[in-house]
Amino acid sequence: MKVSKKVSSVEYAIRDVISSAIDLEKQGKTIDYLNIGDPAQYGFQPPENVKQALIDAVKKGKNFYSVSEGIPELREAIAKKENSKGLSISKEDILVTNGVSEGLDMVISSIVEEGDEVLLPGPYYPPYASYVRLHGGIPVEFAVDMENSTPDIDDIKSKITSKTVAICLISPNNPTGAVFKENSLKKLIDIANESNLYIICDEIYDQIVFDEKFTGIGKVAGNAPVIILNGFSKVHLMTGWRVGYIAFNNSPQLELIRQHLPKLTRVRISTNQPVQYAALESLQGPQEYISEFVSELKKHRDLVVKRLNLMPGISCSNPKGAFYAFPKIENNPFKSDKEFVLELLKQKNVLTVHGSGFGTKYGSGYFRLVFLPNMEKLNFALDKIEDFMNSFKP
Ligand SMILES: Cc1ncc(COP(=O)(O)O)c(C=O)c1O
Repeated sequence: MKVSKKVSSVEYAIRDVISSAIDLEKQGKTIDYLNIGDPAQYGFQPPENVKQALIDAVKKGKNFYSVSEGIPELREAIAKKENSKGLSISKEDILVTNGVSEGLDMVISSIVEEGDEVLLPGPYYPPYASYVRLHGGIPVEFAVDMENSTPDIDDIKSKITSKTVAICLISPNNPTGAVFKENSLKKLIDIANESNLYIICDEIYDQIVFDEKFTGIGKVAGNAPVIILNGFSKVHLMTGWRVGYIAFNNSPQLELIRQHLPKLTRVRISTNQPVQYAALESLQGPQEYISEFVSELKKHRDLVVKRLNLMPGISCSNPKGAFYAFPKIENNPFKSDKEFVLELLKQKNVLTVHGSGFGTKYGSGYFRLVFLPNMEKLNFALDKIEDFMNSFKP
């Protein structure tokens, strides 16, 4: 029977490559998984007080549907967090979602009609393009300088048409680790104001930065139509618990979406209530676990970037945040970056993700690896990548 064109166009490179790894595992091979950005799978677990908050909520009987918008205490704590980054909002401006993924789906479905264009940073986290397509829109990539984390403002301006409805930003970025600086964010706000566009800014890695203090879009948003997506999967190590949020800036242009989008939270009833109590604890309890996680990750980042740059045929810019390296394949003996990744998997049993999975325009010719595994495992996988690269040397 037929399926819709919309659904058949959905791709998710990060998980799509896994089937090849599973085939190898069936043949008895052990795979080094460097493909999924999930800290909890690599041993970075939520702290005990957060786990306890989840257990306590279950034991206290919080096992029913919550209000669709999210429990008030959590919405309040989230508004406080976003205000500390520069916004000036209240709990009414927050909607709790089943992760950023659901928030993204809700926002895109609320603003995109057939043929509308959405600007995405190139390269981008794949669900951005998938949801835009699923809702009938057209993703349009704009250039970002990976070396100095700067969006190409002229490129963005040249790509705005009468069909453009929004500019999406991901800072820190997945897959490049680029973190936009305050002056770039200001310019993006100016463009949104001039052209009457939504700014959708994903800050899920906001506290995972290595070199400079993070500046969020909230600091420069003024009363521009900014919608922030954020969640508890990365900084708060709660990937499998599925909780995130949408934060609306105080902007008159957001009046209509604020009226209509909450209906989507009602039709999906609610997010997991006990997990909302755990998320609350993760914001209000001790925060040291975050700085410990980030200082460990910085060591991983330094190791990975240094070693990759010493390999023949590879160059890698320094990710300023998140937990991904996005090396360029300078000498690719294979037809494409996907083939490179599949050969690396087949020959050395190391699973990474092809760059073109993050957008063909700016992602092709690269691959992404996650630097969450411990130093020993990273060194082991890097030895194998090095052997692989050495095998093509003339
Ligand atoms: C930029 C970005 N946004 C959102 C997500 C998914 O977030 P969640 O687990 O909250 O759905 C990811 C996961 O890799 C991501 O990299």
